[in-house]
Amino acid sequence: MRAAPATLETIDLTIRFGGHVAVDRVSCAFEPGTLTAIVGPNGAGKTTYFNLISGQLEASAGRVRLGGEDITALPAPLRTRRGLGRAFQLTNLFPNLSVQENVRLAIQARRGIGLNFWSIASRDRALVDEADAVLERVALAEKRFQIASSLPHGDQRKLEVGVLIALDPRVYMFDEPTAGMSVDEVPVILDLIREIRADRSRTVLLVEHKMDVVRELSDRIIVLHNGRLAADGEPADVIASPVVQQAYLGVEA
Ligand SMILES: Nc1ncnc2c1ncn2[C@@H]1O[C@H](COP(=O)(O)OP(=O)(O)OP(=O)(O)O)[C@@H](O)[C@H]1O
Ligand SMILES: [Mg+2]
Repeated sequence: MRAAPATLETIDLTIRFGGHVAVDRVSCAFEPGTLTAIVGPNGAGKTTYFNLISGQLEASAGRVRLGGEDITALPAPLRTRRGLGRAFQLTNLFPNLSVQENVRLAIQARRGIGLNFWSIASRDRALVDEADAVLERVALAEKRFQIASSLPHGDQRKLEVGVLIALDPRVYMFDEPTAGMSVDEVPVILDLIREIRADRSRTVLLVEHKMDVVRELSDRIIVLHNGRLAADGEPADVIASPVVQQAYLGVEA
C-alpha cells in the first residue's frame, strides 16, 4: 500500500554555524503533485536546507512539518519512515551488496519486512521481480548481480535513485542528481524524475544548477540567496525576476 500524499512545510527554518546564518528563516510549503526546483548560487544554503528538512542537521530555530505533523525533533531515520526520501550522494547504498540486493532491501524496508527475514525474503520471487522492475527503470537490469561498490560512479547514482524509487517516499528530494554523470547517463535520471512528477501524488524537491533542466521539469521555482528565500513562483516569472537575472543567471546563462 502506498503512503498518502503529504505537504511538506518549513516555518522560519534557520541554522547558524557560529556567526554565519546558512539558512535564514525560510518559510515554504511544498504540495503533493508539484515539483519545486530550488536554485541559487554556490553556498546559498540549498544543501543545508535539505539537511535541515531530512534531519541530517538540527535546526537552530524554526519547524519542519510533514502532512501536518511536526517532525522537527525527529532524527533522520524516523523522518525517512514518515516518508521523506532523499537521494544522498551514494551514502545510502550498501557497498558490499549486489545491485539487486540494494533495491530489494529498500522494498523490504518500505513493506516493513525486517532484515531478520532476509533469508526468507531472499527466496520471495515477487520481491526479486519487483526489484528487477525497478532496475529496468534505472537501466541497471543487466548489472543486477554486480557488487554496488564495483559500479562506475554514474551507475552508482542511478542505483541510488533506484533505491529511492523502491522506497517510494511521499517526498522525493534530489540534490543535483546528475552531478558527475556522463552526458549519456543524464537522460535516464531526468526521465525518472519526469515519471515521478507525472505520478502527481508525490512531492518533489530538486536542487539543480542546469537552468534548462529546471525550466523543463519544474512547476515552481524558489530561489535561495545568502540563506534567505529570495524568490518563489511560476518558473517563467522567477527566471525573469531581477534577483535571478542578477544573482544567478547573470553568471549562469
Ligand atoms: N557543517 C557546516 N559547518 C559550517 N558551515 C557550513 C556547514 N554546512 C554548510 N556550511 C556553510 O553554509 C553555507 C551554505 O552551504 P550549502 O552547502 O548549503 O550551499 P549550496 O547552496 O548547497 O551550494 P552549492 O550550490 O555549491 O552546492 C556555506 O557558506 C557553507 O560553507
Ligand atoms: Mg549544495
